[in-house]
Amino acid sequence: MHTTHILNTYTVCIDLLLTTYDILIELTRDRYKMNTICISNQKGGCGKTSLTHNVGCVIATLHEKKVLFVDVDGQANLTTVFGFNPDNVKSISELLTSKKKQTRDYIVKTSVPNVDLIPSNQHTFSAEKQLYEKTGREFVLSDALEQVREAYDYIFIDTPPNLGIITLNSLIASNSVILVYTASEFSLDGLSQILNALDEIIKNKRLNINQTKILGAIQNNYKSTTRKVNAKLKDALAGVSDIPKYFSPISETTELEKSQFEHQPAYLYVPNHKISSDFKTFAKELIACLG
Ligand SMILES: Nc1ncnc2c1ncn2[C@@H]1O[C@H](COP(=O)(O)OP(=O)(O)O)[C@@H](O)[C@H]1O
Ligand SMILES: [Mg+2]
Repeated sequence: MHTTHILNTYTVCIDLLLTTYDILIELTRDRYKMNTICISNQKGGCGKTSLTHNVGCVIATLHEKKVLFVDVDGQANLTTVFGFNPDNVKSISELLTSKKKQTRDYIVKTSVPNVDLIPSNQHTFSAEKQLYEKTGREFVLSDALEQVREAYDYIFIDTPPNLGIITLNSLIASNSVILVYTASEFSLDGLSQILNALDEIIKNKRLNINQTKILGAIQNNYKSTTRKVNAKLKDALAGVSDIPKYFSPISETTELEKSQFEHQPAYLYVPNHKISSDFKTFAKELIACLG
């Protein structure tokens, strides 16, 4: 009798432990999913790659987090900015188009501490075409990243300047989308299109990806001298969608392009420049926002 009682108590304890373990696993999964970020605008030249590269590197080095960058643009600007020659890399294009590929085989270490990259090259343009013929084509990137998510605190996806299947894959694989815009009319145009695309994705029950959400918006190429224009831009955006947060803007400066030429994030290239403090502020705000 006594032995049965002990056994029962033992079984209940084991059950409790297993349930707690399951809950913890779920929580951990959610935490990692929360931290896949896409800085988005359907137009080229508004700063997607520059902001992704710089904010990610600040988070990796100054906040000591493991960061994976994923370049899914055939132009491979993010790959180049890290100092890789796109002609000599194992490109994400293979990962997106071939079956049974191991994501970790495509990850390379960069010269920045805590920073890994899945590079891209021009073959990603043709991968886009091949993807259209695949079943489950919207989830290819999401599935590929699932294999390695737990090794990273943050994943940043750098998208091409269009709303094709690769951008759709990126939005689906992300949990947090940040809209980047500049004072150019074209950049705002791109924003309303991406907002519509996101809206459709979120509402599309078949895709069941209601965990993708817009975290906020950030203005790039900011000039304090054009305060009135900046305020009007915010008004215009507010008219299109409810933006939950406006991150502090990123100033316009030629130092950014120079730092990219030297394959360095701005905070290393010009540590005392305003652009470095802008990216540090953005990184802090982003971490706080992700919780
Ligand atoms: N804040 C900024 N100040 C000055 N130049 C910038 C700034 N942000 C981006 N640029 C430059 O603008 C060009 C386009 O930026 P990029 O990040 O490649 O845009 P996207 O990825 O959206 O096409 C690059 O040459 C980059 O150096
Ligand atoms: Mg780019």
